[in-house]
Amino acid sequence: MTKLSYKFSHSTVDYYLAYGISHLKEIVSPENTILITDENIFSAHTKRFRNWDTIVLKPGEEYKIQQTVDSIIDELIDKGADRKTTLVGVGGGVITDITGYVASIYMRGIRFGFIPTSILAMVDASIGGKNGIDVDLYKNMVGIIRQPSFILHDMVFLNSLPQSEWENGFAEIIKHACIKDIAMFNELETKTLKHYQGRQKSICELVQRNAVLKSKVVQKDEFETGERKLLNFGHTLGHALENQYELSHGQAISIGMTYACHISEQLTGFKETKRVVNVLEKYHLPTYASFDKEKAFEVLQKDKKKVRNEMSYVLLQKIGKGIVKTIPMDQLKSIIESL
Ligand SMILES: NC(=O)c1ccc[n+]([C@@H]2O[C@H](COP(=O)([O-])OP(=O)(O)OC[C@H]3O[C@@H](n4cnc5c(N)ncnc54)[C@H](O)[C@@H]3O)[C@@H](O)[C@H]2O)c1
Ligand SMILES: [Zn+2]
Repeated sequence: MTKLSYKFSHSTVDYYLAYGISHLKEIVSPENTILITDENIFSAHTKRFRNWDTIVLKPGEEYKIQQTVDSIIDELIDKGADRKTTLVGVGGGVITDITGYVASIYMRGIRFGFIPTSILAMVDASIGGKNGIDVDLYKNMVGIIRQPSFILHDMVFLNSLPQSEWENGFAEIIKHACIKDIAMFNELETKTLKHYQGRQKSICELVQRNAVLKSKVVQKDEFETGERKLLNFGHTLGHALENQYELSHGQAISIGMTYACHISEQLTGFKETKRVVNVLEKYHLPTYASFDKEKAFEVLQKDKKKVRNEMSYVLLQKIGKGIVKTIPMDQLKSIIESL
């Protein structure tokens, strides 16, 4: 069990790493707390929700929308939730994003915490305070930056995590290694997914290392004016492909990272694409894909990272060293067409 605290500009977030949900009652009181989870997690871990008032949502990205927010707010009103209520999102990134968003707008903002249950949510979605929902094809189009009060990891939830979601989460882990941590990249190169799945200690260490890495990046640049942009490695093109082709988030950014390596070759002289592609494939992630380039570019035009006629794009100088480059849209268009 490790307890850490990270101070962000408006608040401090307590991290209870490798703790177990049984410790939740030491952090919040059951009378003033409502858990939000989804059907998959609830049915696999029903016992762990005993004695907690819980709202159970339908699982999946397609429910990360305003309608779900409305239905949660109705339930909160029914349950008499007030300013003293704490919401705790117990789930993957969809649940943490929605819970943080609802908690940020309900009664102009109530306390919230997360118990991430997928690898992706543990190393990424639960950290950094970005909360929000999708609008049509546009992911995370509406939202707010607000930090949770706490994050608690219970590694036992991972026992029921489907194989595809392990792979999904490792895409973000590989992303972190690419932009910031060559030593972790070297480790990932020598290990396999099976290794981490079979060893509680290894996965625990890897998850913590990634949670700390992301927290430090966010701490330096909470409102994404510089360093935090690095976390978008693979995400620009990835998001443009994600809904269009019904890829998982991890698959989409894996393809996005592959092409970002190729764009890096053209713009920074990056020379290690093959190594990145090999690691992605080692963790069962897709790399090269045929996609409708014109359509992808059309979606890119709506990307939040586009400012006037330029797009901030995360590239690699070398493995472990990501950089942000501003690329004029017409140049980006011709690079994408040439991929
Ligand atoms: N806020 C951020 O900074 C941030 C960062 C990255 C991703 N995200 C968001 O996170 C979402 C993706 O996260 P995700 O992949 O965790 O999504 P998810 O919540 O949809 O979870 C994936 C699937 O795994 C299931 N699941 C999760 N934990 C489980 C467990 N322990 N046992 C059994 N089943 C389990 C879920 O029910 C779901 O079917 C996207 O919406 C993305 O936009 C947000
Ligand atoms: Zn992501």
